[in-house]
Amino acid sequence: MGEGVFVEAVEKSLVRTNGFAPSCIDVFEVDSRMLKAFEEKAHFVRTRCRNQDFITTSIRATYDAVIANPPYVRHHAMDYGDEVIRRFDALAGERLSRMTNLYGLFLIKIWTLLAPGGRAAVITPAEWLNADFGRAIKAFFLRENAIEAVLHFDHAAQVFDNALTTAAITLFRRGRGDDDDVKLLTVHDLRALQAVDLNEARRFRRSELEPAHKWTPLFSTRGRRTSEGSTLGDVARCTRGIATGANRYFTLRESERRHHGIDLRDMAFCITKAQQIREQILTKAHVRQLVQMDERIHLLQPRPRITAAVKRYLEEGRRLGVHKRYLPSHRPVWYRPEQRKAAPILVSVFAREAFRFVVNRAGILSLTAYHAIYLHAPGRDRVNALFDYLISHEAQNELRHHQRIYADGLLKLEPRDVEALSIPMELSRRLSG
Ligand SMILES: C[S@@+](CC[C@H](N)C(=O)[O-])C[C@H]1O[C@@H](n2cnc3c(N)ncnc32)[C@H](O)[C@@H]1O
Repeated sequence: MGEGVFVEAVEKSLVRTNGFAPSCIDVFEVDSRMLKAFEEKAHFVRTRCRNQDFITTSIRATYDAVIANPPYVRHHAMDYGDEVIRRFDALAGERLSRMTNLYGLFLIKIWTLLAPGGRAAVITPAEWLNADFGRAIKAFFLRENAIEAVLHFDHAAQVFDNALTTAAITLFRRGRGDDDDVKLLTVHDLRALQAVDLNEARRFRRSELEPAHKWTPLFSTRGRRTSEGSTLGDVARCTRGIATGANRYFTLRESERRHHGIDLRDMAFCITKAQQIREQILTKAHVRQLVQMDERIHLLQPRPRITAAVKRYLEEGRRLGVHKRYLPSHRPVWYRPEQRKAAPILVSVFAREAFRFVVNRAGILSLTAYHAIYLHAPGRDRVNALFDYLISHEAQNELRHHQRIYADGLLKLEPRDVEALSIPMELSRRLSG
């Protein structure tokens, strides 16, 4: 219910259309102060306030219509026990991902509460259409033939205040025919929403929609090019940065390196924090600056012949129990982190607005704050051509189809999201040739 904007909207629409008022609206809200404020306002439709948790409360009624803007809460911020999630597994007839966002549970429960012929409109982040946790939810809704349409806001349209999330409105209808299409429509902004015409939507047979695939590319013509055209994965490989399993031990500042007397040849330069790169083109001069600033920039990479200084440092590592940590203990040699070549292009794993791509002219390695992009066919011109595309508006917009969105608007890319980025055919040809 929140501040009750939906009840007010129903009332306004009844006045405008001179329509029949529903016999009663059940409003759910866990925050009793909000309910109190709501009850103090005058309403001409009959409402029944339910100060209950929508997820756990048992609801016997079914509804002709549901409107909801469910809360957005990531799985690790939810405090429901596994038995609650298991109840949702049972509702969905699928084991749900334990990463499912709270709004995913709302979507499922709302669908189960619809009376025959009932309809629902639920606004949520669009993320579930793409995220891994959305797979089981999409499979369930497809099986149930629940989805009449999904309206996907253009990523440029800021729908939720103070959030960088893209939004979607899911329309459910109970009683759809087996052959009824699922309609997917892009809405450019809030004003366009008023004039939405579902006849203009792209239509898909249920059998054409694959729960494991990302759905947002299906909304646009641009999406069609993705399936026919090229992706970054065709011309390059993207991998996570180096995971050491004990960054504090395996990476050193210049002052620490000197203190331990470790030779530079037993070290590799390595970016250990996202903020260490501020420029688009990273050169050796920048690395020298980072060394001077005594940033943590050296990664331990002992040569086969262990020096006395390295030996002392390894003994200290053993004393600290580093060799027993998960990753080190699973490596052939606990003190040799993965051997990697420096990648010509790096991309930040997290972003607030735009993901940052960096040309790595310094030949530096990177820990997990950046993913590494290796072209199948290397070469400076090719690296520059790919980089120019990656920093273009077009690529940044494309990336929005693939990024994952965290609760506070933080955006994340997995390596396979980067590989799924569509690239122009012409560029693809140039990079493969
Ligand atoms: C995103 S707001 C939307 C409010 C309102 N529908 C609107 O659009 O303005 C979500 C509301 O759900 C309430 N809420 C959060 N978890 C809930 C739950 N498990 N059951 C019922 N309400 C909940 C929050 O207190 C908040 O007021």
